[in-house]
Amino acid sequence: MTQSNPSAANGDTSSRGLWSSRLAFILAVTGSSVGLGNVWKFPYITGENGGGAFVLVYLACIAVIGIPILMAEVFLGRNGRHNPITSMRLVAERNLASPLWRVSAIVGMIAAFVILSFYSVIGGWAAAYIGHGATGDFVGGNPDTINAMFGNLLASPGELLLWHSLFMALVVLVVSRGLKKGLERSVTILMPALFVLLLVAVGYATTTGHFGEAVTFLFRPDFGKLSINGVLIALGHAFFTLSLGMAIMMAYGSYLGRDVSIGRTAVIVGVTDTLVALLAGLAIFPVVFANNLEAGAGPGLIFQTLPLAFGQMPMGSLFGTLFFVLLVFAAWTSAISLLEPVVEWVEEKTTLGRSGSAMLVGFLCWALGIVSILSLNLWSDVTPLAMFERFEGKTFFDLMDYFTANVMLPLSGMLTALFVGWCVARESLKQDVGLDGKLFGVWYGLTRYVTPVAVAVVFVYNLLS
Ligand code: PHE
Repeated sequence: MTQSNPSAANGDTSSRGLWSSRLAFILAVTGSSVGLGNVWKFPYITGENGGGAFVLVYLACIAVIGIPILMAEVFLGRNGRHNPITSMRLVAERNLASPLWRVSAIVGMIAAFVILSFYSVIGGWAAAYIGHGATGDFVGGNPDTINAMFGNLLASPGELLLWHSLFMALVVLVVSRGLKKGLERSVTILMPALFVLLLVAVGYATTTGHFGEAVTFLFRPDFGKLSINGVLIALGHAFFTLSLGMAIMMAYGSYLGRDVSIGRTAVIVGVTDTLVALLAGLAIFPVVFANNLEAGAGPGLIFQTLPLAFGQMPMGSLFGTLFFVLLVFAAWTSAISLLEPVVEWVEEKTTLGRSGSAMLVGFLCWALGIVSILSLNLWSDVTPLAMFERFEGKTFFDLMDYFTANVMLPLSGMLTALFVGWCVARESLKQDVGLDGKLFGVWYGLTRYVTPVAVAVVFVYNLLS
C-alpha cells in the first residue's frame, strides 16, 4: 500500500522522508517504543517496586493514559504536518487557542535530549555484552563471575566511553542521512526477531523450575509492597516505554496518511510494547529466583541475570550474542527517534543543514552522556540532591533518569492531553482520530478528564508524601 505524499501538499519539504505504508508507520512507532525501556528498565523497576501491584498499576497507566495520549500526539502531528513545535502552534492557531501550548513540545524535546544522553550509555552496555557473548564469557558463569563482569564494565570509564561513543555515532549516522528507508527495513526484520529471541529466553526460563514463582511475582498484586512513589514510577514508565511526552509521536504522525486510523494504530503499538515488556519479565525473573539473585538489584538487573541463563543453556553463546545484538538494535531504533525531533528543529532554526545539525546535537548529547558514565564510577558518591530523603543515594545519572521519566514526560503529556481535550474542536478530532461513536466518546473523556486528573493527583500526592 502506498500513500500520497502528505506533507508535500503543505509545502513541507523536510528531509525526514515519508512512511511508505501504514505498516511502515506502525513498525517505526514500534521501533521507537520497544527498546531498553521494555527489556532493561521494566524488569528492574518492577523488581525494585515489589512486583504484581506495580505491574497492575503500570498496565492501567498504559491503557487509560498512555494509549489515549499516544493518539493525541499522533493527531497533533498529522493535523499540524510540521515539526512538533510548529505543529502545536498551527493547531492552536486553527482552534483560536494560545500558542503557548507548544511549551508541551518544548519540555518534551528537552527531555528527549537528556534521555538520549544516558540511553546511549546503556545502549553501550548492551553493545559491550555482544562481545562478551561472542567470546564465550557467559559459558559456565556463576552469579559471582557474572556480577564481576558487570562490575568491571561499570568501573571502567574508558570502556564505557568507547561503547557510548560508538553507539552515539551509529545514531548520528542514521539521523544525519535521514535514512527512513534503511530504518524501516531494518525494523521490519529486527522487531520480529527480538520477539522470537525473547520467546526463546522465556522458553529457557520455564526450565529453571522457578517459572511459577516469577508468574506469581509479576501477576499477583500485593499492594502492601507498592509505595506512592512506585505509582509515580509506573506512570512515568508508561510514558517512557511508549515514547510519549517527547514530541516523538507528533514528529512521526506528521508523515502519516489520512486514511490510517490513529485509534487502531495506537492500540496495536500499545499492546505490542506491553507484550514485549511482560515477556522480558517472564524471561528474567525465573533466572533471578533460581539463582537467589536480588529482584531489586536496580539498573544492572538484566546484565546480571540473562548472561547466567545464556551460560547454562545449550548454544548459549550463540543465543546470548544474538540477544544482545537485537537489544542494541532495539535501543538504536529508539535512540534515533529521540534524536530526530531535536535535530529537525535545529535544522529549521539554523543554517547547519541536516547532517550538521545531527552532528551538533549528537555531540552535545554525547558530552552530557559523560556525566552519566562518571556517575557509575568516579562520581558514584556524588549525590547532588542527597539533602532530600527521596533522592538520597541518587547520582547524576539516577537523577536525570528520575526527573525526565517521572516529571518532564508526565508534565508534557498532561499539557498535550489538556490541549487536545479542551482546546481542539471536537468535530476535527472526531474526523481525524478514526474511532467510531462510543469509542470516540471513551477516548475523549479519558483525554479531557482522566489523564490530566490522574497525572495531577499522582504529582500532588508525591509532593505531599
Ligand atoms: N520507548 C523507548 C524504550 O522503551 C525509549 C524511548 C524513550 C524512546 C523516549 C524514545 C523516546 O526503550
